[in-house]
Amino acid sequence: MSNATITVLPGDGVGPEVTAQALAVLGAVEEKYRHTFTVHERRVGLDAIEAEGTAISDDTFETCAHSDALLFGAVGSLPAGQTRSGGPRPEQALFRLRKEFGFFANLRPVRPFESLYAASSLKPEHLKGTDMLFVRELSAGLYYGRLESVPGKPSEIRRTARGTEAVDTLLYTEEEIERVVRAAFEIAAGRERKVTSVDKANVLSSSVLWREVVERVAADHPTVTFEHMLVDACAMRLIRTPADFDVIVTENLFGDILTDEASMLTGSIGMLPSASLGARRTESGMFGLYEPVHGSAPDLAGQDRANPVGAILSAALLLRHSLGLEQEAAAVEEAVEYVIREGCRTEDIGEGVHAVVGTREMGRRIVDRLRQS
Ligand code: NAD
Ligand code: IPM
Ligand code: MN
Repeated sequence: MSNATITVLPGDGVGPEVTAQALAVLGAVEEKYRHTFTVHERRVGLDAIEAEGTAISDDTFETCAHSDALLFGAVGSLPAGQTRSGGPRPEQALFRLRKEFGFFANLRPVRPFESLYAASSLKPEHLKGTDMLFVRELSAGLYYGRLESVPGKPSEIRRTARGTEAVDTLLYTEEEIERVVRAAFEIAAGRERKVTSVDKANVLSSSVLWREVVERVAADHPTVTFEHMLVDACAMRLIRTPADFDVIVTENLFGDILTDEASMLTGSIGMLPSASLGARRTESGMFGLYEPVHGSAPDLAGQDRANPVGAILSAALLLRHSLGLEQEAAAVEEAVEYVIREGCRTEDIGEGVHAVVGTREMGRRIVDRLRQS
């Protein structure tokens, strides 16, 4: 029996809507398998800025630190391309959690369901057999740059004799590369034993170092095959032959962009879950942060229209990686796949389905299936 403590950080926009469904699923797991989860709910993002003056308060951070796992919704409240001028930014909550808890490996599985092939932008014959796992480096790289810089901090825009300019730096230490690459090889050893390391070594020094480290780590894993791939070619191959990939390991920003692209193989960005892990262990697994890959989707917020599957599958990853509850995680994944196969769809994956359902109904059907199975 598990007695885990989970801190829930619903955040902004559709974050609270999809998180509520993930929590309902965890509640059903608790009941069915007789676990006791202690849940603390706290504010992050714009919600926290408005109520507490900062994107994540020290108090909330402390609560997180004393948990076995964190379930995160989404932060940010503005449509893509728009930014708030001055003051704290919602996304800083994520950067603080990732950096201070040392979550350097962000796992993003991409496994299109056969019943959803029609919802994808690709032809079904290209999707067959696709089952890949991105291991996105999450605590360094272009997001953090020089050690003193803070992601998204406007002070990096400066006035010089040449005019106004802005600078971002892509810095990796050997150790930062090695720990995430090792994680990728270890995971691949338990899958199809293939690693694709994605970089831009024809241009970037950090990628040249990245390749050197990959070669060294690969030598310790003779049963795992590996290849280097340039990031632009990878963007193309993901669409051309997605089934060729197994584990993909890459730099922070490359991983951010490629996973949004890869989400289209599953039919919607609303389908993808993620797990952010570091070195800290819990009683039965790893301490981790679990969140859907999508953002706060301001265009859908408050309308019961968001797909809760990415959040629910993130809860499954939480059960597996932080609580060591493999059977429960698999049951949640089965319930999601079953409900979708039966034709229950939110509008983003609803092509060809006559009556699409809302966020709450989708969650309710998944909970029902879980209870019956
Ligand atoms: P977004 O992921 O919020 O939305 C992109 C598109 O996908 C929109 O058309 C939206 O309607 C759709 N979409 C997103 N989630 C969906 C879901 N669950 N079901 C169905 N459709 C869904 O990205 P954006 O619009 O570029 O960013 C909006 C805000 O979210 C920004 O402030 C951004 O910084 C933030 N953001 C936060 C996170 C996070 O908290 N981890 C991730 C990405 C973006
Ligand atoms: C993600 C998001 C974040 C990122 C944003 C909100 C800072 O896009 O988790 O994929 O870029 O890491
Ligand atoms: Mn992203």
